[in-house]
Amino acid sequence: KRVAVLISGRGSNMEALLGAASEPSFPAEIVAVISNREDAAGLGLASRRGVEAIAVPHRGHADRQAHEAALSEALAAHAPDIICLAGYMRLLTPDFVAQWQGRMINIHPSLLPAFPGLDTHQRALDAGVRIHGCTVHFVTEKTDEGPIIAQAAVPVLAGDDANSLATRVLLAEHKLYPLGLELVATGKARMSEGRTAFSDPAD
Ligand code: GRF
Repeated sequence: KRVAVLISGRGSNMEALLGAASEPSFPAEIVAVISNREDAAGLGLASRRGVEAIAVPHRGHADRQAHEAALSEALAAHAPDIICLAGYMRLLTPDFVAQWQGRMINIHPSLLPAFPGLDTHQRALDAGVRIHGCTVHFVTEKTDEGPIIAQAAVPVLAGDDANSLATRVLLAEHKLYPLGLELVATGKARMSEGRTAFSDPAD
């Protein structure tokens, strides 16, 4: 399967996906990395690894639709089957999301449905949870509410602050995202009637 990764910044999850996809047995190939910010560090990381790295800045477009039209054009040039959002910080329109329904996934730094949205690590600390983590899910119209594909739990330790917790969760993200992509790329996890359907593990 051909995969495009959308980023806005650092790109460490994108790098984890590139690392996994460099294994010959991995069922997906990263064909493009696209950022809505020209200064995203992840663009440099991708091009140094020989992957097509493209900036499609949202600035300069009249509205969200106009930016997405440019994004769709860049995507079409690389014909991806699957889109991975990896720290992509722009909201997508319902039309774009519908077009990629079941074929676009995201990684979120919490155990959804707990802590959708931003600032998840501080909110987990404030809530006093002892177990935190990350989630790979299908992207639907409602931000961070799509069907869950895979999750990893991460303990909250005494003395944690948002930074130390984020660092621990990020390590888990880097393992989880390739696993989630693999499930979707092989068809072992697919979106059906608003839920994730998993094929029989014996298949
Ligand atoms: C990650 O924590 C991801 O879960 C969240 O944004 C962060 C992106 O980090 N959506 P990176 O750009 O992958 O390093």
